[in-house]
Amino acid sequence: MLQNQKIVIIGGSSGIGLATAKKAAALGAEVVIASRSEDKLRQAAQQIGEGASAYPLDTTQETQVQAFFEKIGALNHLVVTAAETSGGPFLSTETAQARQLFENKFWGQYYAAKYGAPRMSPNGSLTLFSGVVAYKTMAGSSMLGAVNAAVSNLAQTLALELAPIRVNVVSPGIIDTPSRSKMSDEARSRFYASLAQKLPAGRVGTAEDVAKSVLYLIQNSFVTGTVLHTEGGHILI
Ligand SMILES: NC(=O)c1ccc[n+]([C@@H]2O[C@H](COP(=O)([O-])OP(=O)(O)OC[C@H]3O[C@@H](n4cnc5c(N)ncnc54)[C@H](OP(=O)(O)O)[C@@H]3O)[C@@H](O)[C@H]2O)c1
Repeated sequence: MLQNQKIVIIGGSSGIGLATAKKAAALGAEVVIASRSEDKLRQAAQQIGEGASAYPLDTTQETQVQAFFEKIGALNHLVVTAAETSGGPFLSTETAQARQLFENKFWGQYYAAKYGAPRMSPNGSLTLFSGVVAYKTMAGSSMLGAVNAAVSNLAQTLALELAPIRVNVVSPGIIDTPSRSKMSDEARSRFYASLAQKLPAGRVGTAEDVAKSVLYLIQNSFVTGTVLHTEGGHILI
C-alpha cells in the first residue's frame, strides 16, 4: 500500500503516466500529476479521483520545472513519463527536429531529476523513461534511440549519486497509448496487428502493463540502477 506517500507523475495526464497515477491512487497514494495541457489535466484528474492534484508544466522550460517543485514541496516518489517523440530517416530529418526531441525527452527528464531530487525523501524513488529503440536498433529511430540511451545512462549514474534515493528506468516496447493518435485508426491497427504476430508476448502492450512496472520499482526498496524492459520480448525478435 502507498498510504502517506506523495507520488508525482510528470506526464500523468495520458497513457502510461495516467495508468500509473490511477494505480498509485488506488493503493492510497497522494497523487500529483503535471503536463502542458490544462484540458488533459482536468480530464485525467477526474479519472484518477478524489485527492489528485494537477499542475500545468512544460518540462522543456527549466524555470517552470524549478518553480513546479518549489510549489509542490516535499515528495516521496517521482515518475517522469512526459515526452513527445518523433522519428524518421537520419539524413532527411531536420536538425531542429532532432534537437527538439532531445529538448523534450532528455532535457525534460534531466530538469525533473535535478529539481525534484533535492525535495525527495531518502527512501523515495525516481523513475525515468527510456524505450525499446535504445536496445533494439531500428532504422528510422537513430535520434530516438540516442535519446533513450542517454536517459538510461543518466539514470544509472544518478542511482549512485542520489543514493539512498533509488533511481530506475522503464523501457517500454510498443504500447497502445494516445502517443500514436496522429496515425489513422486503420494504420495503427495494422501496425499493432503485424507486430503482435512477431512478438513473443503475442500482442502489443497496454498502458496498464507498463504502469505495473512503475509500481514495482516504486515499491521494491532493493531495486535501484536497473532498466526494467517492458516490451513483450521485442528485443529478441
Ligand atoms: N507508447 C509507446 O509505444 C512507447 C514506446 C517506447 C517508449 N515510450 C515512452 O513512454 C513514455 C510515456 O509515453 P506514453 O505512450 O504514455 O505517451 P502519451 O500517452 O503521449 O503521454 C505523454 C504525456 O507527456 C506529456 N508531455 C509531453 N511533452 C511534455 C512536456 N514538454 N512537458 C510536460 N508534459 C509533457 C503529455 O501531456 P501534454 O500534452 O498535456 O503535455 C502526456 O501526458 C514516454 O517517455 C515515451 O517516449 C512509449
